[in-house]
Amino acid sequence: MYPPIQSILSILFNFFRRNQLSNWKLAISSLASWVVISSIGSAAAAERPRLKDAFKDDFVVGAAIGEDQIMGDEPKSMELVAEQFNAISPENCLKWESVHPEPDRYDFEQSDKYVEFGEQQGMFILGHTLVWHNQTPAWVFEDEQGKPLGREALLARMREHIHTVVGRYKGRITGWDVVNEAVMPDGTMRKTKWLEIIGPDYLAKAYEYAHEADPDAELYYNDYNEWYPEMRATTAKLVRDLKAGGARIDGIGMQGHWGFDYPSLDQAEASIVAFADAAGKVMITEVDIATVPDARQYRGMDISDDNELMKKLDPYPDGLPDEMQQKLADRYRDVFTLFHKHRDKIARVTFWGVHDGQTWLSYHPVPGRHAYPLLFDAQLEPKPAFDAVIEVAE
Ligand code: GLA
Repeated sequence: MYPPIQSILSILFNFFRRNQLSNWKLAISSLASWVVISSIGSAAAAERPRLKDAFKDDFVVGAAIGEDQIMGDEPKSMELVAEQFNAISPENCLKWESVHPEPDRYDFEQSDKYVEFGEQQGMFILGHTLVWHNQTPAWVFEDEQGKPLGREALLARMREHIHTVVGRYKGRITGWDVVNEAVMPDGTMRKTKWLEIIGPDYLAKAYEYAHEADPDAELYYNDYNEWYPEMRATTAKLVRDLKAGGARIDGIGMQGHWGFDYPSLDQAEASIVAFADAAGKVMITEVDIATVPDARQYRGMDISDDNELMKKLDPYPDGLPDEMQQKLADRYRDVFTLFHKHRDKIARVTFWGVHDGQTWLSYHPVPGRHAYPLLFDAQLEPKPAFDAVIEVAE
């Protein structure tokens, strides 16, 4: 547990900083009303069920935390994390572009704090992610003249990165998403620079280096769209082959960025079963349920001035209507009933974010939308979906 004095001091510090208070009378009266309001909130928080307790015999329950949370700018949401979850994932701070922005520069400021928080709370701490095609700077694949690296040079760079990052948190980060998103929905391998320059054994090498760097850390393969039958088959085979070739792989992560009607429960179930069979265990690693329409076709376009289109793509700018709250709760009830049914295979279920104020779906694939995909709203209050999930455990 957070030492209480440290916690109170950090809350006070952040309170004064956020409110930029220099007048002491005003400060004291604001603080007094804030204490009253928050103690009402804390009393409610103390009484409500906790996800980590509700599922304690089944799987750990996690949330991804972002920069504001890690750096101390959202103390209330970090209290919520400590209250409800027993696992954390780093939203961005361990991705290559954040932790290793330039060839000779690593930046561990955020990731050190992330790991310290998880240790203080005694949580499962995920490392995410070492080898990916996104959020990886272009220089990684180039030499000093900007020409493409050859296989050996890229392998050396990959090894150095993995050894430095995994090595720094040896014995502290519980498990790593070593490779993220290597397979396409049609079952082919994704054509990334890693594949192009190194060849198909880039995965085996990544697992080999990660295992060298921390022999006790669990190592995972993580991906999305995993309910497509061809992708399911390729992913299961890929992991089996890697393990047969000597790689340490402890489980497969299914991201779980899902919608109301995809995947079907049968499709999700088939992948949970196939992946547990291939890898030993499954983690549902990035759960959120989109309450906004699919906007992938507008990715990268500025559509903020197109009122008609924005109305269509951002249907609930003023809050999620009751009927949709209920629909979200029903969907959460269904998917958690499935997870609970397969609790012998599923080791962890992690949400991609703590509360709706933080979700990537508000700015991806188009900015300026209002998405409500999580169990807590932007005021950190539990939604009907929270009750639905708790009811599954009960
Ligand atoms: C993928 C990645 C995550 C994150 C999400 C969306 O699923 O694995 O790290 O970037 O997309 O934010």
